[in-house]
Amino acid sequence: MSAQAGFDWLREVDRGRYRFCQRLAPNVCLAEDRDEARVVVKQHLMAGPDGFPTCDDPRSEIELHSRLAHSHLAEFVCGYPEQRVVVTRWVPGESAARRFFLSPGTEAEALRVLIPVAEAAAYLHQQAVLHRDITPPNVICYGKSATLVDLGAAIKVAPGVWTRLAPMTVAISLLAEPFPWPRPPEVDYGYHSNVYALALLAIYVLTGLPGLSARYWDPQGWAFRENLRHLVLPGLAKVLARALRPSPEDRYPTAGDMLQELLSLP
Ligand SMILES: Nc1ncnc2c1ncn2[C@@H]1O[C@H](COP(=O)(O)OP(=O)(O)O)[C@@H](O)[C@H]1O
Ligand SMILES: [Mg+2]
Repeated sequence: MSAQAGFDWLREVDRGRYRFCQRLAPNVCLAEDRDEARVVVKQHLMAGPDGFPTCDDPRSEIELHSRLAHSHLAEFVCGYPEQRVVVTRWVPGESAARRFFLSPGTEAEALRVLIPVAEAAAYLHQQAVLHRDITPPNVICYGKSATLVDLGAAIKVAPGVWTRLAPMTVAISLLAEPFPWPRPPEVDYGYHSNVYALALLAIYVLTGLPGLSARYWDPQGWAFRENLRHLVLPGLAKVLARALRPSPEDRYPTAGDMLQELLSLP
């Protein structure tokens, strides 16, 4: 089977504007634009792996993403709602999922991933946007920094109105890169859920262990706190512990609040 198999649809997008380079996920590829700029082209799936229709609406990703710009957020290039296609600027690096898998980073490395992603999330929160899928596969590490990608599950939220996390959204991100990933305990998703996800991202970098679930560590348990104590200095341990509190109101209310504390660490 050729690498391009499954990407026939790419030829039809914008009269062949994009040339296939490499498969990144079953529905996502690296491609070259006519001017040879490298882009990532994603076609939203009509159905999940089990045949159920997904609840993602590519129009909302296009509408949202086209209005957003931040140095640590993948740059929006183009959207084709009829073809369910979103194009972003390629971030030349590797996902945090890949880079740190069974190969844990130091505290300094964790901060080099966490701080830029928290900046992107803080920007999104200022714009009243909830990402809902801050996970290691959706963070691209390059050089000494990182960029957040994939606004497929992001939504605009009204003040104080939280949202349910659609289960299909989880299925989609698992399909892109099989990756067991815990969710915050709450049913109603809010900025505080992104805060929780940011802390899990840092823990993943520090441990190289995906699926930080009951199988490995319980964030509220004694063993977890003991482990954290050995991995990071007390300042960062305190920030992560607050971000992982089971009750949303005990966490930082937004990524911006968490970021402030991260930036003031000694
Ligand atoms: N702009 C980009 N630059 C580099 N890699 C990207 C970019 N966008 C996506 N990717 C990679 O492709 C994978 C799948 O794309 P993503 O937008 O997350 O699709 P899905 O909505 O199916 O999860 C991501 O997990 C990421 O590793
Ligand atoms: Mg993704």
